[in-house]
Amino acid sequence: MAFRDLRAFIEEAEKIGEVAKVLGADTNSDIGSITEITAWSPEHPMVLFDEIKGYPSGWRIAVHALDSYKRAQLVYGFPDGLKGGELTRWWRNKLDNLTPIGYQEVEDGPAFENIQNGDEVDLYKFPAPLWHQKDAGPYLVSGGASVLQDPETGKLNVGCYRGMLYDRNTLGHHLAAGHNGQVIRDKYFALGKNCPVVVSLGHDPSFLVAASEGVGYHENEFEFGGFLRGEPYEVLRGPLTGLPFLSTSEVVLEGEILHPDNEPLRVEAPWGEAQGYYSAGFPQPPLRVNAIYHRNHPIILGEPTLRYKNRGAAGGFPKLARAWHMLELSGLEGIKDVGRVGPYFVISIKQYYSGQALRIADYAMSGLGDRPPRFLVLVDDDIDPNNRNQVEWAITSRMDPASQIYIQRDRWTSPTNPAGLTPAKRTIEDYTLGTVIIDACKPFRWREDWDKMFSSSLIDEDLRQRTAEKWKDVLGRFITEPKPK
Ligand SMILES: Cc1cc2nc3c(=O)[nH]c(=O)nc-3n(C[C@H](O)[C@H](O)[C@H](O)COP(=O)(O)O)c2cc1C
Repeated sequence: MAFRDLRAFIEEAEKIGEVAKVLGADTNSDIGSITEITAWSPEHPMVLFDEIKGYPSGWRIAVHALDSYKRAQLVYGFPDGLKGGELTRWWRNKLDNLTPIGYQEVEDGPAFENIQNGDEVDLYKFPAPLWHQKDAGPYLVSGGASVLQDPETGKLNVGCYRGMLYDRNTLGHHLAAGHNGQVIRDKYFALGKNCPVVVSLGHDPSFLVAASEGVGYHENEFEFGGFLRGEPYEVLRGPLTGLPFLSTSEVVLEGEILHPDNEPLRVEAPWGEAQGYYSAGFPQPPLRVNAIYHRNHPIILGEPTLRYKNRGAAGGFPKLARAWHMLELSGLEGIKDVGRVGPYFVISIKQYYSGQALRIADYAMSGLGDRPPRFLVLVDDDIDPNNRNQVEWAITSRMDPASQIYIQRDRWTSPTNPAGLTPAKRTIEDYTLGTVIIDACKPFRWREDWDKMFSSSLIDEDLRQRTAEKWKDVLGRFITEPKPK
């Protein structure tokens, strides 16, 4: 469903009873704490903070935009009732048939209702919460979308990168190593230039989804977002950088990430990460804001990372669907389904030849459009990759650790994984760690012998039904219950 802006989305969410308003909260403790605690319940509301202490009434922060089944449905438009693997399949099919929808440029828009340039720039005007108790400081940007442009190719890139408030015109901007944003920034630095950027702080949630989606380097997040909402975005151009941003953005910061020769690095973070630890703070190039554009009574979209964050019954389907879609692009035959069980990313395959499982695994380790899974598990196609019981059974019964576990070293992984990231590695942004492939498929070479040697010890269906019929009066449902999946 296409929403003109964040306000239209909130209105719709309100109509379906999905918004809780909180008046009078402070940025030091209340907003962060309320955001964290409300995220624990499965279908929690979007929380809209207004009358924030120390800020004008109507200058709001909205959190949990996408974290319920119904709100995810507003953004993705999936049919009612679709869940789990079926929902993943539905979205994968959409991605397989994606038609990019480009943006439309306009001359003026609500984002230009208020303009501050140069010395007028004052980031302290906007509410910036301390989201987690021991964050290094308030973060103004948590659910933002930053636009950068490759200086070599002109290709646009949008990413969601957090922004720590340093002072009235400077932010820390965390472009993690390996993300396209970091590559583009460092291309400017290699040319001896600052990196131009515009950062939107509040927008229709489809734009947040687009910014955080793992589209390929040569794809365009504006076009992906347009496809997601089914309509082109309207964009304005930043007068200083020429970079595009949504004409209905609530707040837009236009500026540049400063070349280390022009401005000393500044420590960004600690910041509470989704893994449940604080990321390390270390020196990074700051972002200087040269102009601010904002709407009357702006709403900032907050999306701090949290250890416990329920996403409602829609769950994590977009990531799985993207991974599956990317696997399909490999053109490799035999990929049947993908799923997640605890820390394991699971692919079920139909084996046709020796070496096929590892061929698919090798592709998956670099081709999912994101960091490689830390634990990749391959299972045969009789195993449901989203079913913990079945996946664990495959690992315990079909996998010999001595010959079916492959440890890979020095892989690009997340800066949020504490394991293995020594202080020395963190400070040079070396986020490489080991990854594991667990081949829990029946070994192809002797699969036929396997089936002959190891026949199933489970009661067969015919005997189960006869037994259930014969003893149902004595044991009731304990004997008529179908076998666990
Ligand atoms: C709420 C949220 C916060 C995020 N924070 C950061 C961040 O601070 N730095 C970062 O590099 N990626 C962050 N990400 C992940 C990136 O936005 C995401 O991987 C995106 O696809 C990266 O885009 P890029 O490869 O085009 O740079 C965040 C994602 C979300 C959803």
